[in-house]
Amino acid sequence: MSFTPKEIEDYCVAHSSGLSEVATELMLHTRASIHGSRMLIGELESSVLKFLIKLGQVKTVVEFGTYTGFSSLIMAEALPDDGQIITIDINPETSKVAKSFWDKSSVGHKIQQILKPGPEAIKDLHGTYDLIFIDADKNGYPLYLDWAIEHLSARGLIISDNTLWYGKVLTAGLDKQTDSIRLHNEKAKNLEGFTKTLLPIRDGMFLITRN
Ligand SMILES: C[S@@+](CC[C@H](N)C(=O)[O-])C[C@H]1O[C@@H](n2cnc3c(N)ncnc32)[C@H](O)[C@@H]1O
Repeated sequence: MSFTPKEIEDYCVAHSSGLSEVATELMLHTRASIHGSRMLIGELESSVLKFLIKLGQVKTVVEFGTYTGFSSLIMAEALPDDGQIITIDINPETSKVAKSFWDKSSVGHKIQQILKPGPEAIKDLHGTYDLIFIDADKNGYPLYLDWAIEHLSARGLIISDNTLWYGKVLTAGLDKQTDSIRLHNEKAKNLEGFTKTLLPIRDGMFLITRN
């Protein structure tokens, strides 16, 4: 879902840094062969992610929601050579596709996969991280945000994806996932000591950093 008219989004993509060959191949493969490819972050959000990683001099990332590894690959490409991503997912099939494409890239050494539900995976993650990218099960968003606040490095950035959820966030009581994203957004809005912006890029990118 994107809130931007297609021709405007295409123009933005055409005037932004583009995808690598392997990222393009992974995007096309996912769209052609894998169920749920609308979940990919897409090209414009990819360029925004890369830009923020460069700007924030991010070195460590935790990602909730690997899927076929497209956003992990994008982030790994923007990280310095000693940067590291830990990416979490429950789906062994799509995680296998992800690994096969990372192995073809020159940045696969930066990515570590955890194949567990998010709430279990975080029990083993005790560090602080420069970027926490929330893009897994929508019912988990409030919990992932709480964890992210506790585990954010001093200059860190939280990005929660799909926080406009096809526009459904405007209406309370529609369904459990929408209410969960609404709760996440209220929590984010009310955080003290943090600067926040909710951008209508693709399906909504909520950016949160310390003051
Ligand atoms: C929106 S997709 C991630 C897309 C990916 N970030 C990208 O753009 O390339 C969401 C992923 O969350 C995973 N997921 C669903 N429930 C989960 C859970 N409880 N814990 C971790 N991952 C989960 C799904 O298997 C799916 O691959």
